[in-house]
Amino acid sequence: MPSLLFERGAPGRGATFVSDAGAAARYLDAGLLRADLPLPDLAELEVARHFTELSSRNFSVDRNFYPLGSCTMKYNPKLNEAAAAFEGFTELHPFAPDAGCQGALQLLWRMQRALTALFGMTQFSLMPAAGAHGEITAMLMAKKHFNDIGEGARNVCLVPDTAHGTNPASAAMVGYRVNAIASTARGRIDVAALKRKLGADTAVCMMTNPNTLGLFEDDIVDVTNAVHEAGGLMYYDGANANAIVGLCRPGDMGFDLLHLNLHKTFSVPHGGGGPGSGPVGANKKLAPYLPQPLVIERDGAFALDWGSQRSIGPVRAFWSHFLAVVRAYAYVIVHGVDGLRRNSELAVLNANYVRAAVKDVLAVPYEDFCRHEFVCSAEALKKKTGVRALDLAKGLLDAGIHAPTMYWPHVVPECLMIEPTETETKATLDGFAATLRGLVELAEAEPDALRAMPLHTSVRRVDEAHVGRQANKGIGLRWSAEQGAV
Ligand SMILES: Cc1ncc(COP(=O)(O)O)c(C=O)c1O
Repeated sequence: MPSLLFERGAPGRGATFVSDAGAAARYLDAGLLRADLPLPDLAELEVARHFTELSSRNFSVDRNFYPLGSCTMKYNPKLNEAAAAFEGFTELHPFAPDAGCQGALQLLWRMQRALTALFGMTQFSLMPAAGAHGEITAMLMAKKHFNDIGEGARNVCLVPDTAHGTNPASAAMVGYRVNAIASTARGRIDVAALKRKLGADTAVCMMTNPNTLGLFEDDIVDVTNAVHEAGGLMYYDGANANAIVGLCRPGDMGFDLLHLNLHKTFSVPHGGGGPGSGPVGANKKLAPYLPQPLVIERDGAFALDWGSQRSIGPVRAFWSHFLAVVRAYAYVIVHGVDGLRRNSELAVLNANYVRAAVKDVLAVPYEDFCRHEFVCSAEALKKKTGVRALDLAKGLLDAGIHAPTMYWPHVVPECLMIEPTETETKATLDGFAATLRGLVELAEAEPDALRAMPLHTSVRRVDEAHVGRQANKGIGLRWSAEQGAV
């Protein structure tokens, strides 16, 4: 079955509503009309079938298990969608005066307050559009703070070697020099190594907790104290907060700034499924630097407030990805704090359940219980059979399971990072563990079978090295009648 519109149809089969160029010219500037565009002629039914077929190739949480580590691909309740579809939200004009959108402002205000309480901060801005955007927002706030207090010379950002790649990137984008901190054999930040690097140039230490190995940083209070004593700020990457909501709070651990990924922890579709939302929270010292406007309540009315002279200003047009916040807010009020805590506990339980079910066939490099995710390694399997983590991931695709995150964090060779989330049933987790174990067995008996996988996906193996090298040349995105997709 041809997979591109260009490969379907036949001349004259067109389903045009504007039937002649003369009609088009009534609507479009003549200079914009082109006679030489090689567009395919397709009947409307062909177009409908084409797109319906493509949509069935999408991999999504609603169809299959999606244990993609550090991404929290949990179920997004349909109730959230109903809330986000309310006309009063969807039809709002972004320039509506405050008096004309009190309900929407109240929702934003309540969400600011809910996050403040759940994460132990003083204030939240809902403006950043995604996690990495939240990171850079917070780095800009830190930078402005240091400039304001005459310590603009602080230019080093300390980042553990297990950090998400966006952390060093965000720090570098505001002009900080990034200095990596090693992890210990327990998979935690090496506090002694950190202390050796602290000094008059320390601006920020960016930490993820639980870290990307799925482990809770049990020395976190030591870390925050040491960084503060050196005059630096602590930044919490809260993209992985699914393990902690309702159980512990970054503010209580001593963090000055944090971002969240509402599109993970608070069940907003993401990963091609919808725009994100990366709110930034700040403690009392940093709150004046938050992007504005913030939503405030005054005498029972809600308003956009531009009052802070020290704010870094807006980081995005208008309020935020407003409908993403609506979805997340629906999730918060439906669950309440007890439900949110229960979800965190189940996320941790499910991850430990799968970890225990596979650890005898794929080594789990750290002994302790994990939080919302865990990493395991296919290094021994690779040495014995040549089958790599990548091959196992391809095998999972054939079983209708999304591949785990691979080869990251770099501190674990042949790494698979698995995050089952709290929304999966025990039967799904058992099925996943059995499939993974079956693939390891198959690799030992018939390594070539693994290397040939996937056999049942619409795209088989791609030449990843080639794609990586050619990425900036638009490889795979061009099509020509002579060559097809190149
Ligand atoms: C730990 C961590 N930090 C930051 C991010 C960046 O979030 P976003 O993809 O929304 O920019 C991610 C995303 O996967 C993450 O896992």
